[in-house]
Amino acid sequence: MKRITDGISKSLPSGVRIGLVPTMGALHAGHLSLVDAIRPHCDVVVMSIFVNPLQFNNAADLARYPRTEDADAALAESAGVDLLWIPSQSEIYPGAAELEEAGWLGSAFEGLHRPGHFAGMLTVVRRLFELVNPSVAIFGEKDLQQLALIRRMVDAHSLPIEILAGPTIRESDGLALASRNRFIKQREVAARLPAALFHLQGSSKPASLRLAEARSLLTAPLEIEYLELIDPLTWAPISDDFRGQARAILAASLDGVRLIDNDLVEIR
Ligand code: PAF
Repeated sequence: MKRITDGISKSLPSGVRIGLVPTMGALHAGHLSLVDAIRPHCDVVVMSIFVNPLQFNNAADLARYPRTEDADAALAESAGVDLLWIPSQSEIYPGAAELEEAGWLGSAFEGLHRPGHFAGMLTVVRRLFELVNPSVAIFGEKDLQQLALIRRMVDAHSLPIEILAGPTIRESDGLALASRNRFIKQREVAARLPAALFHLQGSSKPASLRLAEARSLLTAPLEIEYLELIDPLTWAPISDDFRGQARAILAASLDGVRLIDNDLVEIR
């Protein structure tokens, strides 16, 4: 594996299909599964590690975001990344960045609780695309709203990039893997989040009743921000007469750590 800091354009091979795995580091099995998933779709796998200040609406969260570069490099190498790119702030943002538009979806759910987050996230993803010029890029389904917004941005700018989604990887108790999980002290409480998602599945009760029951599982010390069933095409909360594949989406805080998760829910 080649590891570089700045100067990505000089390090990219030409005439091959490049696959990009954008990350903010603190790698875990979820990131490594993205490498496995993208490999059959490209000739060269590039992984970027850049903790993007523009997408943090909370300075304390940015300051404590885990930075584990050497461990990340070892993991990336073991996963078969060809080129690990850890750019400086000035390679990504040589001047003042022009923010991407996140639209109404950028201000709903996660966007309501993290103002500016999605515009900052889209801005860096667009810039990574510009610098790497990938044929294909992959993002985890755990960040479902992020994935939807990236797809919308690619469509809006007609970018010739195929966007793949990697399934959420979970711990044995169901908790979705996330870099911030290392800060959770009450792990057994955190496991109530996937339990609430699981509760929404396979029931014949109306969606509103299922939601009320699932919300009642998310009691203190969890601070729930939202738990909704949405139509994944429109992102509108579903009504009781909806039939088909809905998505349960949730966000909650525990031990000062924000956790998000989602799952498919079949409504018959
Ligand atoms: O999901 C992430 O890790 C980040 O939001 C991303 C896509 C790498 C952009 O900074």
